Amino acid sequence: MKSTHLLGAAILGLSFAIPAQSVEVEPAMSEKHANAYTEYRQSVFTLLKSNIGPLGAMAKGKMEYDTDLMQTNAMRMEQLAGMLSDYLRVDTSNYDLDSDAKASIWQNFDDVQSKITDLKQAAANLQNVAQSGDESKFRQAIGNVGSTCKSCHDDYKKD
Ligand code: HEC
Repeated sequence: MKSTHLLGAAILGLSFAIPAQSVEVEPAMSEKHANAYTEYRQSVFTLLKSNIGPLGAMAKGKMEYDTDLMQTNAMRMEQLAGMLSDYLRVDTSNYDLDSDAKASIWQNFDDVQSKITDLKQAAANLQNVAQSGDESKFRQAIGNVGSTCKSCHDDYKKD
C-alpha cells in the first residue's frame, strides 16, 4: 500500500515537474563538471557551424540552392538549438577554462534563452521557406538564421 502511494506521488511529481520546467542557471560543481559542459556547448556550436556553412555558401551564390539540404540543415539547427539551454545553463565562470563564453551569460539567462528561441524560430522559418520553393526568399531566410548567431555572439562571446 505504502509503495503504491509513493509511486503515485512520484508520478504526480513528474507530471507537475514537466510543464513547470523552467531552465535555471546552476553553478558547475567542480572543475571536471565545468570542463565537460564547456566541451558539450562548444560541440553543439561546432555542429551548428557545420550545418550553416553550406547554407552560407548558397546565400553567397557560391553553391547552388538545394532545398533538400536547406531543409535538412535547418531542421538539424532547430534541434541543436533545442539542446542549447541545457548545455549553457551550467555556469562555468568560476573556473579558468579554454572558453570564449562571457560570464554575463549566466547573469542574463532569460535574454540568452530568448536568443536561443530566435535561432529556433529562424531555423523553423527556413524549413518553411525551403519547402515553399520560393527562391526569392532563400537568401533572406538563411541570413536571418545567421543574424541570430551573431546577435548572441555580439553579447556573450569573447572575440
Ligand atoms: C544563445 C547564444 C548563442 C547562439 C544563439 C549562438 N552562439 Fe555560437 N557561441 C556562443 C558562445 C557563448 C560561444 C562560446 C562558447 C565557449 O567557448 O564556451 C559560442 C561559440 C561558437 C563557436 C566556437 C565553438 C568552439 O569550439 O569553440 C562556433 C563555431 C559558433 N559559436 C557558431 C555558432 C553558429 C553557427 C550559430 C548559429 C547557427 C551560433 N553559434 C549561435 C553563443 C551563441
